[in-house]
Amino acid sequence: MSFPKDFAWGAASASYQIEGGACEDGKGPSIWDAFSHQPGKTFNGHTGDLACDAYHRFEEDLDLMESLGIRHYRFSLSWPRILPEGRGKINAAGLDYYDRLVDGCLQRGIKPWITLYHWDLPLALYHKGGWLNRDTAYAFEEYASIVADHFKDRADSFITINEPQCVVGMGHGNGLHAPGTLLSDEDMFRSWHHILLAHGLAVRKIREIIPCARIGAASTGALAYTEDPCSNTPEDLVCASFLSLPREQNEGWYFNHQWFLDPLVFGHYPEDPAAVWTPYKDSIDPADLSVISQPLDFIGLNIYNGTEMVPSESGGYQIADKYEGYPRTALKWPVTPGVLYWGPRLVYERYKLPVVITENGQSCNDRIFLDGKVHDPDRIDFLARYLGKLKRVCEDGIPVLGYFHWSFTDNFEWYSGYDDRFGLIYIDYRDCSRIPKDSARWYRDLIAENGESLS
Ligand code: FCB
Repeated sequence: MSFPKDFAWGAASASYQIEGGACEDGKGPSIWDAFSHQPGKTFNGHTGDLACDAYHRFEEDLDLMESLGIRHYRFSLSWPRILPEGRGKINAAGLDYYDRLVDGCLQRGIKPWITLYHWDLPLALYHKGGWLNRDTAYAFEEYASIVADHFKDRADSFITINEPQCVVGMGHGNGLHAPGTLLSDEDMFRSWHHILLAHGLAVRKIREIIPCARIGAASTGALAYTEDPCSNTPEDLVCASFLSLPREQNEGWYFNHQWFLDPLVFGHYPEDPAAVWTPYKDSIDPADLSVISQPLDFIGLNIYNGTEMVPSESGGYQIADKYEGYPRTALKWPVTPGVLYWGPRLVYERYKLPVVITENGQSCNDRIFLDGKVHDPDRIDFLARYLGKLKRVCEDGIPVLGYFHWSFTDNFEWYSGYDDRFGLIYIDYRDCSRIPKDSARWYRDLIAENGESLS
Protein backbone atom coordinates (compact mmCIF):
# COMPACT_ATOMS: atom_id res chain seq x y z
CA MET A 1 0.00 0.00 0.00
CA SER A 2 1.11 3.54 -0.66
CA PHE A 3 -1.06 6.63 -0.98
CA PRO A 4 -4.73 5.71 -0.96
CA LYS A 5 -6.27 5.31 -4.43
CA ASP A 6 -8.50 8.35 -4.04
CA PHE A 7 -5.80 10.52 -2.47
CA ALA A 8 -6.49 14.21 -3.26
CA TRP A 9 -3.42 15.69 -4.96
CA GLY A 10 -3.97 19.41 -5.07
CA ALA A 11 -2.59 22.92 -5.05
CA ALA A 12 -3.61 25.91 -2.97
CA SER A 13 -3.93 29.69 -3.14
CA ALA A 14 -5.63 32.55 -1.29
CA SER A 15 -7.73 35.41 -2.61
CA TYR A 16 -5.67 38.41 -1.53
CA GLN A 17 -2.45 36.73 -2.58
CA ILE A 18 -3.48 36.11 -6.20
CA GLU A 19 -6.62 37.91 -7.31
CA GLY A 20 -5.83 41.58 -7.69
CA GLY A 21 -8.97 43.40 -8.85
CA ALA A 22 -8.77 45.12 -5.49
CA CYS A 23 -11.36 47.78 -6.27
CA GLU A 24 -13.16 46.17 -9.18
CA ASP A 25 -16.82 45.42 -9.69
CA GLY A 26 -18.00 46.56 -6.30
CA LYS A 27 -15.49 44.75 -4.10
CA GLY A 28 -15.15 46.35 -0.67
CA PRO A 29 -11.73 46.93 0.91
CA SER A 30 -10.24 44.37 3.26
CA ILE A 31 -7.80 44.87 6.12
CA TRP A 32 -5.03 43.67 3.79
CA ASP A 33 -5.86 46.37 1.21
CA ALA A 34 -5.52 48.97 3.94
CA PHE A 35 -2.46 47.43 5.62
CA SER A 36 -0.40 46.87 2.48
CA HIS A 37 -0.89 50.52 1.54
CA GLN A 38 0.58 51.74 4.83
CA PRO A 39 4.22 52.72 4.40
CA GLY A 40 6.74 50.23 5.74
CA LYS A 41 4.39 47.31 6.24
CA THR A 42 5.41 45.17 3.28
CA PHE A 43 8.62 44.52 1.36
CA ASN A 44 9.23 47.54 -0.92
CA GLY A 45 5.67 48.69 -0.32
CA HIS A 46 4.20 45.85 -2.39
CA THR A 47 0.42 45.51 -2.36
CA GLY A 48 -2.07 42.96 -3.66
CA ASP A 49 -3.74 45.53 -5.95
CA LEU A 50 -2.82 43.48 -9.01
CA ALA A 51 -1.12 40.42 -7.49
CA CYS A 52 -1.19 37.66 -10.16
CA ASP A 53 -4.25 39.24 -11.77
CA ALA A 54 -6.07 35.96 -11.21
CA TYR A 55 -9.27 38.00 -11.19
CA HIS A 56 -8.83 38.23 -14.96
CA ARG A 57 -6.52 35.29 -15.68
CA PHE A 58 -8.04 32.45 -13.65
CA GLU A 59 -9.03 30.52 -16.81
CA GLU A 60 -5.38 30.35 -17.81
CA ASP A 61 -4.50 29.07 -14.34
CA LEU A 62 -7.20 26.43 -14.49
CA ASP A 63 -5.99 25.33 -17.92
CA LEU A 64 -2.49 24.90 -16.53
CA MET A 65 -3.84 23.02 -13.56
CA GLU A 66 -5.79 20.70 -15.80
CA SER A 67 -2.74 20.07 -17.99
CA LEU A 68 -0.76 19.06 -14.91
CA GLY A 69 -3.41 16.61 -13.75
CA ILE A 70 -4.11 18.57 -10.55
CA ARG A 71 -7.67 17.61 -9.72
CA HIS A 72 -8.12 19.45 -6.41
CA TYR A 73 -7.87 23.20 -5.99
CA ARG A 74 -7.98 24.88 -2.61
CA PHE A 75 -8.69 28.60 -2.98
CA SER A 76 -10.23 31.19 -0.71
CA LEU A 77 -13.08 33.58 -1.32
CA SER A 78 -12.64 37.24 -0.62
CA TRP A 79 -15.32 38.02 1.96
CA PRO A 80 -15.48 41.74 0.99
CA ARG A 81 -15.81 40.84 -2.70
CA ILE A 82 -19.05 39.08 -1.78
CA LEU A 83 -20.14 41.32 1.09
CA PRO A 84 -18.41 44.70 0.68
CA GLU A 85 -19.56 45.86 4.11
CA GLY A 86 -18.98 42.48 5.75
CA ARG A 87 -22.70 41.77 6.06
CA GLY A 88 -25.96 42.93 4.53
CA LYS A 89 -25.89 43.87 0.87
CA ILE A 90 -24.48 41.16 -1.44
CA ASN A 91 -22.25 42.18 -4.35
CA ALA A 92 -23.65 40.11 -7.22
CA ALA A 93 -20.57 40.76 -9.40
CA GLY A 94 -18.38 39.25 -6.68
CA LEU A 95 -20.44 36.09 -6.60
CA ASP A 96 -20.33 36.04 -10.42
CA TYR A 97 -16.56 35.88 -10.33
CA TYR A 98 -16.64 32.88 -8.00
CA ASP A 99 -19.33 31.29 -10.16
CA ARG A 100 -16.96 31.48 -13.11
CA LEU A 101 -14.11 30.12 -11.00
CA VAL A 102 -16.09 27.21 -9.55
CA ASP A 103 -17.69 26.37 -12.90
CA GLY A 104 -14.27 26.59 -14.57
CA CYS A 105 -12.95 24.05 -12.06
CA LEU A 106 -15.84 21.66 -12.57
CA GLN A 107 -15.64 21.87 -16.37
CA ARG A 108 -12.03 20.72 -16.13
CA GLY A 109 -12.67 17.95 -13.61
CA ILE A 110 -11.09 19.94 -10.77
CA LYS A 111 -12.71 19.74 -7.37
CA PRO A 112 -13.00 23.07 -5.56
CA TRP A 113 -12.04 23.18 -1.88
CA ILE A 114 -13.34 26.50 -0.66
CA THR A 115 -11.61 28.34 2.17
CA LEU A 116 -13.91 30.94 3.66
CA TYR A 117 -11.38 33.01 5.54
CA HIS A 118 -7.79 33.42 4.45
CA TRP A 119 -7.21 36.71 6.28
CA ASP A 120 -8.92 39.38 4.15
CA LEU A 121 -11.42 40.60 6.72
CA PRO A 122 -13.77 43.29 5.35
CA LEU A 123 -12.37 46.63 6.49
CA ALA A 124 -15.88 47.73 7.47
CA LEU A 125 -15.93 44.98 10.12
CA TYR A 126 -12.50 45.96 11.37
CA HIS A 127 -13.85 49.46 11.95
CA LYS A 128 -16.47 47.89 14.18
CA GLY A 129 -13.82 46.11 16.26
CA GLY A 130 -12.78 43.27 13.96
CA TRP A 131 -12.38 39.91 15.65
CA LEU A 132 -12.43 41.59 19.04
CA ASN A 133 -16.10 42.24 18.43
CA ARG A 134 -18.26 39.16 18.98
CA ASP A 135 -20.59 40.34 16.21
CA THR A 136 -17.90 39.54 13.64
CA ALA A 137 -18.51 35.86 14.36
CA TYR A 138 -22.18 36.30 13.48
CA ALA A 139 -21.26 38.25 10.35
CA PHE A 140 -19.09 35.30 9.37
CA GLU A 141 -22.02 32.96 9.92
CA GLU A 142 -24.10 35.11 7.56
CA TYR A 143 -21.31 35.07 4.96
CA ALA A 144 -20.88 31.26 5.29
CA SER A 145 -24.59 30.80 4.85
CA ILE A 146 -24.63 32.90 1.65
CA VAL A 147 -21.69 30.94 0.23
CA ALA A 148 -23.11 27.53 1.14
CA ASP A 149 -26.48 28.39 -0.28
CA HIS A 150 -25.01 29.76 -3.49
CA PHE A 151 -22.63 26.85 -4.15
CA LYS A 152 -24.61 23.99 -2.63
CA ASP A 153 -25.02 22.18 -5.92
CA ARG A 154 -21.40 22.61 -6.96
CA ALA A 155 -19.12 22.41 -3.91
CA ASP A 156 -18.99 20.14 -0.90
CA SER A 157 -15.52 20.69 0.57
CA PHE A 158 -14.94 23.64 2.86
CA ILE A 159 -12.23 25.01 5.10
CA THR A 160 -13.61 27.59 7.48
CA ILE A 161 -10.63 29.50 8.87
CA ASN A 162 -7.03 29.49 7.75
CA GLU A 163 -4.54 29.60 10.61
CA PRO A 164 -6.06 31.57 13.49
CA GLN A 165 -2.53 31.36 14.88
CA CYS A 166 -1.41 33.85 12.23
CA VAL A 167 -4.60 35.89 12.30
CA VAL A 168 -4.20 36.63 16.00
CA GLY A 169 -0.48 36.06 16.50
CA MET A 170 0.72 38.16 13.57
CA GLY A 171 -2.29 40.42 13.16
CA HIS A 172 -2.36 41.42 16.84
CA GLY A 173 0.66 39.87 18.58
CA ASN A 174 3.71 40.97 16.61
CA GLY A 175 1.89 43.27 14.17
CA LEU A 176 3.57 41.88 11.05
CA HIS A 177 0.21 41.12 9.45
CA ALA A 178 -2.99 43.10 8.97
CA PRO A 179 -4.53 44.78 10.76
CA GLY A 180 -1.31 45.21 12.74
CA THR A 181 -3.05 46.51 15.87
CA LEU A 182 -1.30 45.20 18.96
CA LEU A 183 -3.63 43.84 21.62
CA SER A 184 -3.22 42.81 25.24
CA ASP A 185 -3.08 39.07 25.99
CA GLU A 186 -6.65 39.21 27.21
CA ASP A 187 -7.93 40.90 24.05
CA MET A 188 -5.91 38.53 21.88
CA PHE A 189 -7.63 35.64 23.60
CA ARG A 190 -11.01 37.29 23.14
CA SER A 191 -10.34 37.72 19.40
CA TRP A 192 -9.17 34.11 19.24
CA HIS A 193 -12.32 32.93 20.91
CA HIS A 194 -14.51 34.88 18.48
CA ILE A 195 -12.68 33.30 15.53
CA LEU A 196 -13.36 29.87 16.98
CA LEU A 197 -16.98 30.83 17.52
CA ALA A 198 -17.14 32.01 13.89
CA HIS A 199 -15.80 28.61 12.83
CA GLY A 200 -18.43 26.73 14.85
CA LEU A 201 -21.31 28.89 13.64
CA ALA A 202 -20.16 28.46 10.03
CA VAL A 203 -19.80 24.68 10.30
CA ARG A 204 -23.31 24.42 11.74
CA LYS A 205 -24.71 26.60 8.96
CA ILE A 206 -22.92 24.85 6.09
CA ARG A 207 -24.05 21.46 7.35
CA GLU A 208 -27.62 22.63 7.62
CA ILE A 209 -27.52 23.72 3.97
CA ILE A 210 -25.25 20.97 2.57
CA PRO A 211 -25.73 17.87 4.72
CA CYS A 212 -23.07 15.88 2.84
CA ALA A 213 -20.42 18.64 3.11
CA ARG A 214 -16.87 17.78 4.13
CA ILE A 215 -15.71 20.49 6.49
CA GLY A 216 -12.44 21.23 8.23
CA ALA A 217 -10.24 24.12 9.34
CA ALA A 218 -6.56 24.77 8.60
CA SER A 219 -4.24 24.86 11.59
CA THR A 220 -0.56 25.67 11.93
CA GLY A 221 1.89 25.57 14.80
CA ALA A 222 4.87 23.97 16.45
CA LEU A 223 5.27 20.28 15.68
CA ALA A 224 8.02 17.99 16.79
CA TYR A 225 9.52 15.11 14.86
CA THR A 226 12.32 12.66 15.30
CA GLU A 227 14.65 10.88 12.95
CA ASP A 228 15.05 8.19 15.61
CA PRO A 229 14.19 5.06 13.63
CA CYS A 230 13.52 3.05 16.79
CA SER A 231 10.73 5.29 17.95
CA ASN A 232 7.51 3.55 17.29
CA THR A 233 5.41 4.99 20.04
CA PRO A 234 4.18 8.49 19.55
CA GLU A 235 3.34 9.21 23.19
CA ASP A 236 6.63 10.81 24.13
CA LEU A 237 6.63 12.92 21.04
CA VAL A 238 3.04 13.97 21.48
CA CYS A 239 4.12 15.12 24.87
CA ALA A 240 7.18 16.82 23.52
CA SER A 241 5.38 18.53 20.72
CA PHE A 242 2.36 19.71 22.59
CA LEU A 243 3.64 20.33 26.06
CA SER A 244 7.37 20.73 26.20
CA LEU A 245 8.21 23.19 23.46
CA PRO A 246 9.07 26.45 25.16
CA ARG A 247 6.16 28.83 25.05
CA GLU A 248 5.42 30.46 28.42
CA GLN A 249 6.42 34.08 28.23
CA ASN A 250 7.82 33.13 24.90
CA GLU A 251 7.02 35.34 21.96
CA GLY A 252 4.99 33.39 19.49
CA TRP A 253 3.82 30.65 21.88
CA TYR A 254 0.37 30.91 20.30
CA PHE A 255 1.76 29.10 17.25
CA ASN A 256 0.49 25.85 18.65
CA HIS A 257 -2.22 23.51 17.47
CA GLN A 258 -3.89 22.63 20.71
CA TRP A 259 -5.42 26.01 21.59
CA PHE A 260 -7.22 25.78 18.25
CA LEU A 261 -7.92 22.09 17.86
CA ASP A 262 -8.72 21.10 21.46
CA PRO A 263 -11.79 23.40 21.59
CA LEU A 264 -12.84 22.37 18.07
CA VAL A 265 -12.60 18.66 18.74
CA PHE A 266 -12.84 18.20 22.54
CA GLY A 267 -15.02 21.22 23.32
CA HIS A 268 -12.66 22.80 25.84
CA TYR A 269 -9.49 24.85 25.91
CA PRO A 270 -6.32 23.04 27.02
CA GLU A 271 -5.70 22.47 30.73
CA ASP A 272 -2.42 24.27 30.89
CA PRO A 273 -1.79 26.37 34.00
CA ALA A 274 1.31 28.03 32.53
CA ALA A 275 -0.27 29.22 29.29
CA VAL A 276 -0.61 32.96 28.79
CA TRP A 277 -4.34 32.76 27.99
CA THR A 278 -5.33 30.40 30.82
CA PRO A 279 -6.41 33.22 33.20
CA TYR A 280 -9.03 34.38 30.68
CA LYS A 281 -10.55 31.13 29.53
CA ASP A 282 -13.00 30.78 32.43
CA SER A 283 -14.65 34.05 31.57
CA ILE A 284 -16.19 32.72 28.38
CA ASP A 285 -19.71 31.39 28.09
CA PRO A 286 -19.51 27.56 28.19
CA ALA A 287 -22.37 27.43 25.67
CA ASP A 288 -19.94 28.83 23.10
CA LEU A 289 -17.84 25.71 23.36
CA SER A 290 -20.67 23.48 22.23
CA VAL A 291 -21.09 25.71 19.17
CA ILE A 292 -17.34 25.64 18.57
CA SER A 293 -17.06 21.85 18.79
CA GLN A 294 -19.23 20.92 15.82
CA PRO A 295 -18.38 17.54 14.30
CA LEU A 296 -15.62 17.88 11.71
CA ASP A 297 -14.68 15.72 8.74
CA PHE A 298 -10.97 16.44 8.71
CA ILE A 299 -8.25 18.54 10.25
CA GLY A 300 -6.33 20.69 7.80
CA LEU A 301 -2.65 21.08 8.59
CA ASN A 302 -0.38 23.70 7.07
CA ILE A 303 3.05 22.21 7.66
CA TYR A 304 6.30 23.75 6.46
CA ASN A 305 8.81 22.69 9.09
CA GLY A 306 9.12 21.22 12.54
CA THR A 307 11.40 20.95 15.53
CA GLU A 308 13.66 17.95 15.64
CA MET A 309 13.68 16.05 18.92
CA VAL A 310 16.34 13.61 20.05
CA PRO A 311 16.23 11.14 22.92
CA SER A 312 17.43 12.77 26.13
CA GLU A 313 19.48 11.13 28.85
CA SER A 314 16.53 11.24 31.23
CA GLY A 315 14.59 8.96 28.92
CA GLY A 316 12.30 11.49 27.17
CA TYR A 317 13.08 13.79 24.29
CA GLN A 318 14.81 17.13 23.98
CA ILE A 319 15.16 19.65 21.16
CA ALA A 320 18.07 18.74 18.88
CA ASP A 321 20.84 21.26 18.32
CA LYS A 322 20.99 22.62 14.77
CA TYR A 323 24.32 22.20 13.04
CA GLU A 324 26.02 25.06 11.21
CA GLY A 325 24.74 25.40 7.69
CA TYR A 326 21.67 23.24 8.21
CA PRO A 327 19.34 23.14 5.18
CA ARG A 328 17.12 26.20 4.77
CA THR A 329 14.75 27.61 2.17
CA ALA A 330 15.02 31.06 0.59
CA LEU A 331 12.86 32.38 3.45
CA LYS A 332 15.34 30.72 5.85
CA TRP A 333 12.79 28.22 7.07
CA PRO A 334 14.46 24.94 8.05
CA VAL A 335 14.00 21.96 5.76
CA THR A 336 12.72 19.18 8.02
CA PRO A 337 10.99 16.44 6.01
CA GLY A 338 10.35 14.24 9.06
CA VAL A 339 7.62 16.62 10.17
CA LEU A 340 5.43 15.39 7.32
CA TYR A 341 5.49 11.98 8.93
CA TRP A 342 5.19 12.99 12.57
CA GLY A 343 2.91 16.00 12.12
CA PRO A 344 -0.09 14.12 10.71
CA ARG A 345 0.60 11.21 13.01
CA LEU A 346 0.75 13.27 16.21
CA VAL A 347 -2.35 15.19 15.29
CA TYR A 348 -4.22 12.02 14.38
CA GLU A 349 -3.14 10.29 17.61
CA ARG A 350 -4.55 13.18 19.59
CA TYR A 351 -7.73 14.03 17.70
CA LYS A 352 -8.62 10.82 15.83
CA LEU A 353 -9.80 12.71 12.78
CA PRO A 354 -8.57 12.30 9.20
CA VAL A 355 -5.93 14.80 8.18
CA VAL A 356 -5.55 16.87 5.02
CA ILE A 357 -2.25 18.61 4.37
CA THR A 358 -3.78 21.92 3.35
CA GLU A 359 -0.39 23.60 2.72
CA ASN A 360 3.23 22.58 2.27
CA GLY A 361 5.98 23.83 0.01
CA GLN A 362 9.09 25.97 -0.04
CA SER A 363 10.18 29.40 -1.21
CA CYS A 364 13.08 29.48 -3.69
CA ASN A 365 14.99 32.24 -5.42
CA ASP A 366 13.44 31.21 -8.72
CA ARG A 367 14.35 33.01 -11.94
CA ILE A 368 14.13 32.52 -15.67
CA PHE A 369 17.20 30.72 -17.00
CA LEU A 370 18.96 31.38 -20.30
CA ASP A 371 16.87 28.70 -21.93
CA GLY A 372 13.71 30.59 -20.99
CA LYS A 373 12.67 27.97 -18.43
CA VAL A 374 12.47 28.11 -14.64
CA HIS A 375 14.58 25.34 -13.11
CA ASP A 376 13.86 24.73 -9.43
CA PRO A 377 15.71 21.61 -8.31
CA ASP A 378 15.54 22.79 -4.67
CA ARG A 379 11.78 22.60 -4.70
CA ILE A 380 11.78 19.17 -6.33
CA ASP A 381 14.24 17.88 -3.75
CA PHE A 382 12.14 19.37 -0.94
CA LEU A 383 8.97 17.78 -2.28
CA ALA A 384 10.56 14.39 -2.84
CA ARG A 385 11.83 14.36 0.74
CA TYR A 386 8.64 15.62 2.39
CA LEU A 387 6.26 13.55 0.29
CA GLY A 388 8.33 10.44 0.93
CA LYS A 389 7.56 10.93 4.62
CA LEU A 390 3.92 11.55 3.89
CA LYS A 391 3.80 8.31 1.97
CA ARG A 392 5.23 6.50 4.98
CA VAL A 393 2.61 7.87 7.32
CA CYS A 394 -0.10 6.75 4.89
CA GLU A 395 1.49 3.30 4.78
CA ASP A 396 1.37 3.22 8.57
CA GLY A 397 -2.40 3.55 8.35
CA ILE A 398 -2.84 7.17 9.39
CA PRO A 399 -5.81 8.52 7.41
CA VAL A 400 -4.39 11.36 5.31
CA LEU A 401 -6.93 12.34 2.68
CA GLY A 402 -4.96 14.75 0.56
CA TYR A 403 -2.05 17.09 -0.01
CA PHE A 404 -2.23 20.67 -1.32
CA HIS A 405 0.99 22.17 -2.55
CA TRP A 406 1.51 25.77 -1.48
CA SER A 407 1.20 27.37 -3.83
CA PHE A 408 -0.11 26.89 -7.33
CA THR A 409 1.42 30.14 -8.62
CA ASP A 410 3.93 32.51 -7.09
CA ASN A 411 2.00 35.24 -5.32
CA PHE A 412 1.89 38.08 -2.82
CA GLU A 413 3.57 36.57 0.23
CA TRP A 414 2.07 38.92 2.85
CA TYR A 415 4.72 41.17 4.39
CA SER A 416 7.39 39.76 2.04
CA GLY A 417 5.36 40.98 -0.93
CA TYR A 418 6.55 39.44 -4.21
CA ASP A 419 9.99 38.76 -2.82
CA ASP A 420 9.25 35.14 -1.96
CA ARG A 421 8.19 32.58 -4.51
CA PHE A 422 6.33 29.45 -3.45
CA GLY A 423 4.63 28.51 -6.73
CA LEU A 424 4.75 25.55 -9.08
CA ILE A 425 4.06 28.21 -11.70
CA TYR A 426 6.40 31.16 -12.01
CA ILE A 427 4.82 34.59 -12.36
CA ASP A 428 6.78 37.14 -14.34
CA TYR A 429 5.52 40.21 -12.52
CA ARG A 430 6.47 42.48 -15.42
CA ASP A 431 3.43 41.27 -17.34
CA CYS A 432 1.91 38.58 -15.10
CA SER A 433 2.75 35.86 -17.60
CA ARG A 434 2.88 32.32 -16.26
CA ILE A 435 5.75 29.83 -16.74
CA PRO A 436 5.42 26.31 -15.29
CA LYS A 437 8.56 25.49 -13.32
CA ASP A 438 10.33 22.13 -13.51
CA SER A 439 8.62 21.26 -10.22
CA ALA A 440 5.22 21.60 -11.89
CA ARG A 441 6.14 18.85 -14.36
CA TRP A 442 7.66 16.79 -11.56
CA TYR A 443 4.42 17.12 -9.58
CA ARG A 444 2.39 16.20 -12.67
CA ASP A 445 4.37 12.95 -13.05
CA LEU A 446 4.08 12.20 -9.35
CA ILE A 447 0.32 12.62 -9.41
CA ALA A 448 0.08 10.38 -12.48
CA GLU A 449 1.73 7.51 -10.62
CA ASN A 450 0.07 8.34 -7.26
CA GLY A 451 3.46 8.81 -5.61
CA GLU A 452 4.49 5.17 -6.15
CA SER A 453 8.14 5.98 -6.91
CA LEU A 454 8.69 8.00 -3.73
CA SER A 455 10.86 6.45 -1.13
C1 FCB B 1 0.95 30.21 5.39
C2 FCB B 1 -0.21 30.98 4.76
C3 FCB B 1 -0.11 31.09 3.26
C4 FCB B 1 1.31 31.35 2.79
C5 FCB B 1 2.26 30.34 3.40
C6 FCB B 1 3.69 30.48 2.95
O1 FCB B 1 1.07 30.56 6.73
O2 FCB B 1 -1.42 30.35 5.08
O3 FCB B 1 -1.00 32.09 2.84
O4 FCB B 1 1.67 32.65 3.07
O5 FCB B 1 2.21 30.44 4.81
